[in-house]
Amino acid sequence: MANTKKKLRVLVVDDEEVVRTGISRVLERQGLSIHTAADGSEALEIMANQSIHIVLLDIKMPGMDGIEVLEHIRATYPHTVVVMITGHPSIQSAIECTKLGAADYLVKPFRVDELESLILKAREEVSRDKEFETPLEEDETIDEVPYIVGSSIAMREIFSKVRRAAPSDSTVLLTGESGTGKELVARAIHALSERAHKEFVPVDCSALVESLLESELFGHVKGSFTGAFQTKHGLFELANHGTFFFDEISNLSLNIQAKLLRVIQEREFMKVGSQKRIKLDIRIIASSNRDLTEAIKDGSFREDLYYRLSVVPIILPPLRDRAGDVPLLVEHFLKLHSEKRNGRPRSVSKRALEMLSAYSWPGNVRELEHTIERILILEDCDIIEPEHLPAFISQRQGEFQVFSDESFSLEELEKRYIQFVLRQNKGRRQETARILGINRKTLAAKIKKYGLRVNW
Ligand SMILES: Nc1ncnc2c1ncn2[C@@H]1O[C@H](COP(=O)(O)OP(=O)(O)OP(=O)(O)O)[C@@H](O)[C@H]1O
Ligand SMILES: [Mg+2]
Repeated sequence: MANTKKKLRVLVVDDEEVVRTGISRVLERQGLSIHTAADGSEALEIMANQSIHIVLLDIKMPGMDGIEVLEHIRATYPHTVVVMITGHPSIQSAIECTKLGAADYLVKPFRVDELESLILKAREEVSRDKEFETPLEEDETIDEVPYIVGSSIAMREIFSKVRRAAPSDSTVLLTGESGTGKELVARAIHALSERAHKEFVPVDCSALVESLLESELFGHVKGSFTGAFQTKHGLFELANHGTFFFDEISNLSLNIQAKLLRVIQEREFMKVGSQKRIKLDIRIIASSNRDLTEAIKDGSFREDLYYRLSVVPIILPPLRDRAGDVPLLVEHFLKLHSEKRNGRPRSVSKRALEMLSAYSWPGNVRELEHTIERILILEDCDIIEPEHLPAFISQRQGEFQVFSDESFSLEELEKRYIQFVLRQNKGRRQETARILGINRKTLAAKIKKYGLRVNW
């Protein structure tokens, strides 16, 4: 990977030496360039000679205090993001700081992950500021995320988020419909992190049996329950120092959610049947194809766990919202699967590609990949033409016209429209109900009433 990255410059201002070095050490690991100052005037001197992107600023300092420095910075460097550090949090000073233009504040003593997520937020703020003289776009070389193919604006944003989140240890929450690439993104984050040479341990939360889950995750000691003939290492132990991927986290029971929350907070755990605490150093990535805020509302997901997990939320858009990625993906899968099958290179005609791009892909990238694979197996052609595509893609089915020559009742209109949305979403009721703006019960009643088709 070419490292032409221009580093983000951070200035740490604190009169305590230990705070300065502590923060510097953490931020240097993230590839940031760090400057330090022991008091306000030193800070302003550095800023006069260097363009600084982010300032971490202690409030209580001898001489010029943090508030005063903040006012100077705001007046002279309006684009610099300032985060206040305070040992004595009070609502009053927090309000004062935000009024004066501080982006955020950090309360001493703080944990490494708090600092990291704060810096992540500050970085986003810096890059959002288009007028900032140091072009940050240059920093983020967008086409350098392993495994993941895409060139749409939505995917570029994902790439830059991935690149920023990867080097930190922040917990990442990936949401998106099935097949949008959540696991792939999790692997990319691991591959770009300092844990890359350690384990990436995926666990499918929906596949684990509740009764065994605990011992799977935490391990158990011999004799801790019937059938525990030997001491077993849990997945947490195997993943130690690496990355742990909780796939489909919304499927965890409330009981396990509570235990997981404790593990994340305390960064240690005990095996089933043991009192010995084991230190845990893992990076956690979680995924869900359900909107977890909805799961919180219906009581099946803990809100406090959600906030722990979504330090860096990444939402993967469905493929139909980034149809521009289809040609690149088609090319990628054609190459991948014909090489795998030792086949000759094959291509796709312009017309067929248009049809593939126009299709709604309810199963997202996974469905596209399977479709290409199937065509390679079934069709013995050099160039894929419309006639080689499955009928539901080539027939441009599902075009829905309200204004045609035909006249029909409102009820008929409702019937046809629901059928159209159902088909577009391959009969998936939750998605269909969401799009129609009705609940699942109402949808079920209408399907029954109109005798609609629900399988494709
Ligand atoms: N942007 C992409 N570039 C290349 N391949 C992709 C991309 N997105 C997804 N894929 C491929 O599509 C398939 C599905 O991706 P993945 O398993 O990551 O999806 P997911 O979001 O985890 O789905 P689910 O919720 O069903 O588990 C995989 O084979 C993956 O390699
Ligand atoms: Mg997955």
